[in-house]
Amino acid sequence: MEVLIHRSAEAGGRVVADVVEDVVRRGPTVLGLATGSSPLLAYAELIRRHREEGLSFARVEAFLLDEYVGLPAGHPESYREVIRRELTGHLDIDADRVHAPDGSHPDPPAAAAEYEKSLVGVGVQILGIGTNGHIGFNEPGSSLMSLTRVKTLARQTRDDNARFFGDSIDAVPRHVITQGLGTIARAGHLVLTAAGEHKAAAVAAAVEGPLTASCPASILQWHPHVTVVLDDAAASRLERASFYREIAAQKPAWA
Ligand code: GLP
Repeated sequence: MEVLIHRSAEAGGRVVADVVEDVVRRGPTVLGLATGSSPLLAYAELIRRHREEGLSFARVEAFLLDEYVGLPAGHPESYREVIRRELTGHLDIDADRVHAPDGSHPDPPAAAAEYEKSLVGVGVQILGIGTNGHIGFNEPGSSLMSLTRVKTLARQTRDDNARFFGDSIDAVPRHVITQGLGTIARAGHLVLTAAGEHKAAAVAAAVEGPLTASCPASILQWHPHVTVVLDDAAASRLERASFYREIAAQKPAWA
């Protein structure tokens, strides 16, 4: 696991954008996209590179991590809409090649199983982290080998996400479809990004705590290719922060 600590969240956003640009320029690729505020600076930077530097996403296929159950299609807070608004709608990627679980399906478990089957060959998977250590919507207690399925949100997550629903926790759906931890771990390269002190405890548990379902993001420790991109505040509870900084500062050209 490579842990990169930057002074600002903006610098972290550029690093995540660099990883994505690198795979996109190499040829056809499948990207795993996260919603939430964490990747927004990276997405803004990718949009800028598309507009100003001709970075093309025409050969990209994209899969979202998760979706709320029960929001009508086209609801502004459905993750399908959020990703269109924040990223894909500003790129030259065909809308039919951006996939999300169908949260308005009358049979959510069937929609989850269908999505799981369609998820193949994800190269880079972008991830945020919840304040309780969730990735995607895999709440604490999620099986480390779980596949895409319906989950019930923890109260803390609904509380955290109420800001997107007029500050009303009652307006936040209770159920979601999320890629499982086993599904996420099939991606070739996991890139988790976090900024702010409110993420510091979850980041420390994920990076330096035990591998445990109590912190779903700790699954990163089980994966062979992981990059964690943090600002100083999100890294503030890491015991080995100075070692990670030293590794990054002395990285040889061949690494
Ligand atoms: C959300 C999403 C996650 C996201 C996380 C953190 O509920 N399901 O994919 O990474 O919680 O959100 P944020 O980046 O807004 O802090």
